Amino acid sequence: MKILGIESSCDETAASVVEDGRIVKSNIIATSLDEHKLYGGVVPEIASRRHAESISAVVKEALEQADCALEDIDAIAVTFAPGLIGSLLVGVNFAKGLAVAANKPIVPVHHIRAHIASNYLTSDLEPPFLCLIVSGGHSHIVAVNSYTDYKIIGKTRDDAAGEALDKAGRIMGLPYPGGISIDKISGEGDPNAFTFPRPRIEGAPYDFSFSGLKTSVINVVHHAEQKGEAISIPDLAASFQKSVVDILIANLEKAAKDFGYENLPHLREAEPRCIKKIVLAGGVSANSLLRAKSQKLCKKRGWELYLPELKYCGDNAAMVASQGYYEFIAGVKAKADLNAYATMPIDIVNF
Ligand code: KG4
Ligand code: ZN
Repeated sequence: MKILGIESSCDETAASVVEDGRIVKSNIIATSLDEHKLYGGVVPEIASRRHAESISAVVKEALEQADCALEDIDAIAVTFAPGLIGSLLVGVNFAKGLAVAANKPIVPVHHIRAHIASNYLTSDLEPPFLCLIVSGGHSHIVAVNSYTDYKIIGKTRDDAAGEALDKAGRIMGLPYPGGISIDKISGEGDPNAFTFPRPRIEGAPYDFSFSGLKTSVINVVHHAEQKGEAISIPDLAASFQKSVVDILIANLEKAAKDFGYENLPHLREAEPRCIKKIVLAGGVSANSLLRAKSQKLCKKRGWELYLPELKYCGDNAAMVASQGYYEFIAGVKAKADLNAYATMPIDIVNF
């Protein structure tokens, strides 16, 4: 079965053809990132306009590279939530037009579910598993019970990890996106030069909070500016990155212990939802320290670890086509009035 995936939730316009949810036939991405760099963050209006300009060519190229005509496609999968509303609407309406013209079904795909599916593209991973999803807009720990059944174990109470990294990068004067810049520059710095808080939330051991951390780094920079003191940006970046990664790993370890085989050995055979596989997903899963520390953790604990290939960590349409395939075979199909939504929980049952 061939699925055409379309993604336009943020600043990447992407299209891809994926066979049977796993085999990537094409993966085309056009991005307006360079324009947003001038403003230190994504400008929604610019992103929407660039989607409108490039989506036609991107979809055409994805079909051509996959050596596919539109008639060969079984369904069109499109990201409909969550994301920038103006950006999402471009992809959703393009998919609707294409579906009417070619008489094909549309499958609405949740962006965060798609990030999880990026792992299906390069491994034999199958649910159930426990997933840490860290992107610019989300930080979740989710039990993925099946390809379409999710249970949220923990989530951020305020900022997402990627958002905190991006804002911290900005205050440090590094190029947007801060997450990538901090990862690059941290190798030159001392991760123990600065101490940042490791916030824990009373009664919610799997939840995250990154806003205090963000305020701390802003305070460090402002304090130094006021005193006229020089700060080592590599040291600051390395210390900040370490604290973000430590928080993510600590909650992941706790969730995996509490929901995994270790604490529930009697359920090993009887309860298939019991988890032994740890999976990372989302833009921040490209972070070198997070990848290294999750590898170390899983080795120590004897858990299986799945990391998305670097080219599938950020926004792309192959992950949308993959998730679209699993949604489609589970019977999910959009009606003619399909809309886009800026927010949408991952565990919603009926779209
Ligand atoms: O998943 P994604 O491409 O878009 C959203 O759905 O949000 O994630 C973007 C986020 C940005 O915050 C970016 O700074 C972060 O992923 N990111 C990284 C790295 N690469 C991308 N953060 C840390 N280290 C990286 N190597
Ligand atoms: Zn994303």
